[in-house]
Amino acid sequence: METVNPSLVPQRKLNNGMIIPGIGMGTFGNDRFTSEEVADAVYGAIRAGYRLFDGAAAYGNEKAIGEVYARAFADGIVQRQDLTIMTKVWNDMHGKGDVLVACAQSLRDLQLDYVDIYMVHWPFPNYHAPGAHLTGRNPDAVPFTVEEYMTVWRQMERLVDLGLVRAIGMSNMTITKLEQVLPLCRIKPAVLEVEINPTFQQPKLFEYCKAHDILPIAYSPMGSPCRPERDTEEGDVVTFEMPELVEIAKAHHCHPATICVKWAVQRGHVPIPFSIYENEYVGNLKCTTEDFLTEEEMEILRKADKNARLIKGKVFLWEDAKDWRDIWDGEDAWNVL
Ligand SMILES: NC(=O)c1ccc[n+]([C@@H]2O[C@H](COP(=O)([O-])OP(=O)(O)OC[C@H]3O[C@@H](n4cnc5c(N)ncnc54)[C@H](OP(=O)(O)O)[C@@H]3O)[C@@H](O)[C@H]2O)c1
Repeated sequence: METVNPSLVPQRKLNNGMIIPGIGMGTFGNDRFTSEEVADAVYGAIRAGYRLFDGAAAYGNEKAIGEVYARAFADGIVQRQDLTIMTKVWNDMHGKGDVLVACAQSLRDLQLDYVDIYMVHWPFPNYHAPGAHLTGRNPDAVPFTVEEYMTVWRQMERLVDLGLVRAIGMSNMTITKLEQVLPLCRIKPAVLEVEINPTFQQPKLFEYCKAHDILPIAYSPMGSPCRPERDTEEGDVVTFEMPELVEIAKAHHCHPATICVKWAVQRGHVPIPFSIYENEYVGNLKCTTEDFLTEEEMEILRKADKNARLIKGKVFLWEDAKDWRDIWDGEDAWNVL
């Protein structure tokens, strides 16, 4: 297997002083792959030189992934402190006392003493079963409220106090929501995990994060070509087919996926591409260490933003919501510079 020296991979500093890799691997694959297939890829990725992994209780594969972490430590490939392991509390564990239980369950499944970065997966308690299809709205679904969110965040802060997590983060937030909760946080989020790819660059949110010293983690950095059907709509932009991306990929003799990764890392957000295929995940890591994009290419890609959200979150809609844009506070209409 081709390997990449982790010390050559760009690093990022969090607002609590932690240093983390500038690229990681995603692990949401259970709509298409078994937990074991995803876990095997995690093991391969550790061997290849990945040191950052994104997970979630909701992905349903933490037990299988925990086994490969334990194996990687036992095999002496890495030590625990070499890895940055991220996971998230799911929407059905937002109640008082729930977050500690959820974190304990993830620690148990992952066979760890602590998680490096623990995130709130979505900013409301709207639950859907794994692999759910879109059949009407859940009558129990509710919109975001500051009170509900801060109930969760206070528990997240206590996890830091207890030493069970090194840093805490948010996911799927908007500027509108951050404006309401950031002033109330005793411990500010170190990261914000949101969709960012060349077709949906979220420049305002990106700048907002920079100004507040929050590191953006980019989910679906390739434009999630294999995302669940519930998140597709007719007319969705196909990231890999963007002419600007295709053109730059040709010039670098690589797949457009490689350009998505290079663009992300050079812009300064942390992509967490998913793939179980060795050639893809090794390539995604290796490309961050060589053959960089020029300033001109970065500018072409910046201008190519289509402001087209792919992961819409429709499955979380509450009854009174107009459409999925309500989940994002209508910001897609103005999240451009
Ligand atoms: N916080 C959240 O709410 C949230 C939401 C969504 C995702 N995430 C996280 O973000 C991670 C990544 O997002 P994602 O899985 O939606 O989408 P993604 O990483 O944008 O796309 C993954 C797909 O891209 C293709 N790909 C990857 N590397 C490639 C390469 N080098 N060449 C060609 N194709 C390549 C693969 O297709 P093939 O399999 O066909 O090769 C793979 O299935 C997830 O695994 C998860 O950890 C978080």
